[in-house]
Amino acid sequence: MKTAQYPVENGFSDIYLVYEALPELDLNQVDTSLDFLNKKLKAPLLINAMTGGHPDVKQVNRSLARVASQTGIAMAVGSQTAGLEDSEVRDTYKIARDENPDGILIANISAFASSDMAKEAISMIEADALQLHLNVAQELAMSEGDRKFSGALANIERIVHQSPVPVILKEVGFGLSRETVRKLCDIGVEYVDVGGKGGTDFIKIEYMRSGRDHNGKFKNIGITTACSLIEALSLEAPLNIIASGGFTGGTDVACALALGSKLVGIAGHFLEVFSDGLEQGLNERIDDIINDLRNTMLMTGAVDLPELTEKPVIITGFTAEWLLRRGVEISRYSQRK
Ligand SMILES: Cc1cc2nc3c(=O)[nH]c(=O)nc-3n(C[C@H](O)[C@H](O)[C@H](O)COP(=O)(O)O)c2cc1C
Repeated sequence: MKTAQYPVENGFSDIYLVYEALPELDLNQVDTSLDFLNKKLKAPLLINAMTGGHPDVKQVNRSLARVASQTGIAMAVGSQTAGLEDSEVRDTYKIARDENPDGILIANISAFASSDMAKEAISMIEADALQLHLNVAQELAMSEGDRKFSGALANIERIVHQSPVPVILKEVGFGLSRETVRKLCDIGVEYVDVGGKGGTDFIKIEYMRSGRDHNGKFKNIGITTACSLIEALSLEAPLNIIASGGFTGGTDVACALALGSKLVGIAGHFLEVFSDGLEQGLNERIDDIINDLRNTMLMTGAVDLPELTEKPVIITGFTAEWLLRRGVEISRYSQRK
């Protein structure tokens, strides 16, 4: 029986793929590659935004970019506000492009930044796309954090219309609801990263950082990654949806892709693996995740990622209940043939 622990898991223990004992496929036929942002990726994975902006972390971005290049996956740099304010630390972001000149590299800045800042962040790293982060819960948990959140949508719309590259709206761990994603679609956003609950928990981190008692506060708010992903998919909008928040393995990744996400972003787990600063360990871990994804695809009989999205997916437990109560129709996933 599951115990109600905090932090909650991301909901993917409620998601099941249906095993195919007669896949009529060989493992070496299974293809995890895809085209994304006009480039080719070996696997639908993203090292999500984490760092930059201090001389000490230049090495981290160098290593993350090298690993992204070697494993053929995408990478986002951390918030570039520091680099926009201080030219001395710009190289802590640029290093990622130097190390991976042909790979997919994504810029990152707050959804409240100006269009000029957004353009500068993009050109700083010759980015293929720009992530705009939404982090209301994190800001509220920081005693020095922002308290004014009005005007975000109009600002996002300005950036989307002026950006030379696609703009990805992302949460950082509390999820995007169907209503939020609808508002984003209505202003022309074509890429979202649901950044759901169940992985890195910035409320907890900020409370711990400032020595305050957390005691499971705000546990009743936030949308798990599974719920957020399926809510966003239920809009059936012309959207590229990235799933992130608490992913740690190839089978979870396969479930998110089977549901319909284009890519899966991972931050906290990669940071944990890289805590010793050794690229080899992270490289091996990513290869492991890709191998597990490939094996899982074979076990469902999917030869490639488009076929994986046609395989049945069973949604159970809390996730099914949440979606039922939100009026999201889920039988279409289990009824796939
Ligand atoms: C150490 C760390 C730093 C992060 N910094 C940023 C950031 O600068 N900008 C951003 O958009 N997200 C940032 N994130 C959030 C991640 O990109 C991701 O959205 C979130 O951690 C959820 O994914 P996870 O559960 O795999 O960690 C950071 C996460 C971590 C762990």
